[in-house]
Amino acid sequence: MTIKIAGTGSCLPGTVVTNDDLAAVMETSDEWISSRTGIRERRLAKDETTTGMALEASLQALADAGLSAKDLDLIIVGSITGDFVTPSTACELQAALGADKAVAFDINAACSGFMFALNTAYAYLQSGMYETALVVGAETLSKMMDWTDRSTCVLFGDGAGAAVVQRSSQGIFVFEQGSDGKRGQAIFCRNRPCSNFLVQRDFVQDFIHMNGQEVYKFAVGTVPASINRVLEKAKIEAKQIDYFILHQANLRILQAVAKRLKAEENKFPISLDHCGNISAASVPILLDEMNKKGALKRGDLLVLSGFGAGLTWGTAVLEW
Ligand code: ACO
Repeated sequence: MTIKIAGTGSCLPGTVVTNDDLAAVMETSDEWISSRTGIRERRLAKDETTTGMALEASLQALADAGLSAKDLDLIIVGSITGDFVTPSTACELQAALGADKAVAFDINAACSGFMFALNTAYAYLQSGMYETALVVGAETLSKMMDWTDRSTCVLFGDGAGAAVVQRSSQGIFVFEQGSDGKRGQAIFCRNRPCSNFLVQRDFVQDFIHMNGQEVYKFAVGTVPASINRVLEKAKIEAKQIDYFILHQANLRILQAVAKRLKAEENKFPISLDHCGNISAASVPILLDEMNKKGALKRGDLLVLSGFGAGLTWGTAVLEW
């Protein structure tokens, strides 16, 4: 027993912010951003919410799968930027969809969030516990940025992607995921400190801090190794893979991974040029863009991989 992705969807906010738009409000340039990252523009939320974007992406994914919200047994959302601390984005989404019989919860694994959610859904489905799952990555990262920190804020965007996943008797799904909490300080954002009647502390909302070079080293070392382990487990060679659909952090990371895998760069589609880095939403948005433009044929072999804060990584090889 394995699983199949039966439908995909995505949603980006309406407002496009180009590198030149950023250069108008901070000391940066299109040349600096695009030459180091490949990012040319991103979408930033104004009135859009994390749940609202997740809802639009999920409705598209259900329509693509030919299913209704009533068919869902499980909803898992990867996100670090929900509209509420509690309830979870997944519970908000369940209510908005009217997916009454589904159990819903979030996973906090930053840019690996969609992959952790997909692999968790696989474990439930493969065990026979559930038949149909909705797996979502949704982020409003712009609210977590320090807009005076040009080294970080230019990298990120907002959006959501979703996939409907079902048990299947045919196909391939092999995955691995990992964590290295010792290196967690490479990207972090503090929550509010302990403050109660025993101790009073001032609380100033924190923002995302990142050591870009540490993250770069982590990504180019860990991601190809993780992909190779998954391919070995699946007894598939890198050259048999049709597309490597990777988290969209930086074009240079994708090029370095391609080189280490000895794979053609044109097998690494990109959305970061027009989306920036949307953390947990990157992989499902790119998957949906590929699906919508008809680039994926049933039977294609795909590698999906997410990596980021935690530090965390999650990779899967699957048959489309
Ligand atoms: N515009 C103009 N200049 C800038 C900007 C900017 N937006 N940001 C930083 N600079 C300047 C710095 O101040 C520094 O100037 P100085 O030499 O006078 O001090 C100079 O550019 C170089 O800064 P570095 O931080 O050393 O730049 P680097 O070449 O390392 O590139 C980058 C930074 C693009 C972030 C790179 O480290 C990287 O790609 N890292 C990967 C991290 C990543 O993608 N993170 C995403 C989140 S985590 C994830 O999704 C996995």
